Order: sequence, then structure tokens, then C-alpha cells
Amino acid sequence: MKIVSTINEVREQVKEWKKEGNTIGFVPTMGYLHEGHASLIDAARKNNGKVVVSIFVNPIQFGPNEDLDSYPRDLEHDAKLCEEHGVDLIFHPTPEEMYGDNFYTFVDMDVLTKELCGLSRPVHFRGVCTVVSKLFNIVTPDNAYFGQKDAQQLAIIKRMVKDLNMPLSIHGCPIIREEDGLAKSSRNTYLSPEERKAALVLSRSVFLGEKMVKEGERDCKKVIAAMTEEIEKEPLAKIDYVKIVDLSTMQQIDTIEHGILAAMAVYIGKTRLIDNFMIED
Ligand code: PAJ
Repeated sequence: MKIVSTINEVREQVKEWKKEGNTIGFVPTMGYLHEGHASLIDAARKNNGKVVVSIFVNPIQFGPNEDLDSYPRDLEHDAKLCEEHGVDLIFHPTPEEMYGDNFYTFVDMDVLTKELCGLSRPVHFRGVCTVVSKLFNIVTPDNAYFGQKDAQQLAIIKRMVKDLNMPLSIHGCPIIREEDGLAKSSRNTYLSPEERKAALVLSRSVFLGEKMVKEGERDCKKVIAAMTEEIEKEPLAKIDYVKIVDLSTMQQIDTIEHGILAAMAVYIGKTRLIDNFMIED
């Protein structure tokens, strides 16, 4: 496994691999890797000749009062996990390598980015779309892998690739959870032991809502009310949103018919956590 930090090194290596007839699978990450990331790497490993992982805490997707500086980083641990899961190349650029002195071009999207997390994180998805476009242009993958944990991000990336005719396939992978249900996240490290216990309200609420829908409930208001009530039992939890939206447009709906996403963002103390379930078409 190679670890490189420049765009040129990635381009040279990928060119060589493609000349040998390999397909390229790509997993973009911000590092501090866990089993959620590993599941994406495993999916990429299964279906591609070579696997590239990027590790880059992307400054432009963080708002001014967010956790850019405190976001956890551990390249040594990440490299070990990647090696164990058969990664061929880690791209670990500096912010200067990615954005240089001046940077004026952004990839922005309407509609899908204005809902759910886009409401409380107004610059977030512009930063995600921009960095992911850059990474796609640098790595030129055949396949890229994203987690359903960040369901809105996955929907946005799929839409960006379709709208801008990007020549690759996007694959969504299921949420990987801790044994007690909490969705794995690099941000879980911010939680105190007491908060870690309180954080279980997210998955409890998700499982409750999912059960209701699977048992036939079609009224979004009823599902949301039950999910909200579950979260409100926990004094350390403060709801940002609990919503049910159309899976392809991210617009709120009243009745469950086609593909839906039931998503939430909840503060546990100062830490903002997300979770969701989707019912695909
Ligand atoms: P990051 O939060 O590091 O996540 C990288 C990928 O891992 C995303 O596709 C995310 O959905 C997936 N992932 C995280 N936790 C997961 C879990 N518990 N189960 C399954 N998949 C999980 O998402 C980002 O980084 C950034 O926004 C990025 C796309 C890299 C752009 O900077």
C-alpha cells in the first residue's frame, strides 16, 4: 500500500493501473476510520482491480462555528486499517495541495442541499460537492462508495454525478452500527460516557420509526411524532430535526408511498449526531 500527498502522484499511479487494465474503486473519507469506513473499502475491494482511499478533513465543508480544528485525526491508525482491508493507495493531501492560495470555483446544488442538514449547515454541501468533484477528477474512479449513514450526502452525490454527467457509478452501503445500535461515527469520540449512553436515543427512535413503517403505518406525522417522543425522553438530547422526505428530492412528504428517507439530527450535549432509515422504491 502506498501513501501519497500530491495530486500528481495519484494521477501517475492511477494512469499506470488503468494501462494494466484495472478498474479503480474509490472511498472518500475524512479519516479517523472505523468499521463504517471499512465496509465501504470492503465493497470497493470486492468489485475493483485497485482501491484508492482519500483521507482529507475538508475545511470548506465546515461552518465557522463547527469542529474543523477538533475533528479527530490519526493517520497511523487509518493506514493500518486500510492496509488490513486491502487498500492499494491512500491519498492524504494538505489543504494547500487541494485549495492553493486562491480558490474561486465551487460546485453548488439547489433543492436537495437546502433541506435537512442543509438548513443548519448552510455551506456544508457546497463544500462536500466541491471536494468530491475535485477528488473524482484527481482519482478518476470507475466506482465510488458512500455510506447510507450520510443519506442526504449520498443522494446529493448521486444527483451531482447524474446532473454533471460524471463518468462513474456511485454505490450506497448500509449503516454500520455499534452492538448497542449507535451508528458508528468519527464524532462519537466527542461523547462522555454519560453522553454515549444518551446517544442511544437516536437509534432507538430510528428502529421505532422503521418498525412502524414496516408494519404498515403510512402517515408521516404519526411516525415523526412517535420518533420525536422517544428522543424527548432523554434529557441530554436536543432535536435539530426529525423529518420524513422523498428519497430523491429531499422534500418533506405527508404520506409514505415511494422511496423515503426518515432522517434526524440530534445534539447530545455539544455533539451533533445524525441517524436515519430509508425505504427504497
Ligand atoms: P466521513 O464522515 O469520513 O465519511 C466517509 C464515508 O464513510 C461517507 O460515505 C460516510 O457515509 C461513510 N460512513 C461513515 N460512518 C458510517 C457508518 N456508520 N456506516 C456506513 N458508512 C459510514 O462523509 C465524509 O467523510 C465527507 O463528507 C466526504 C464525503 C469524505 C467529503 O469530504
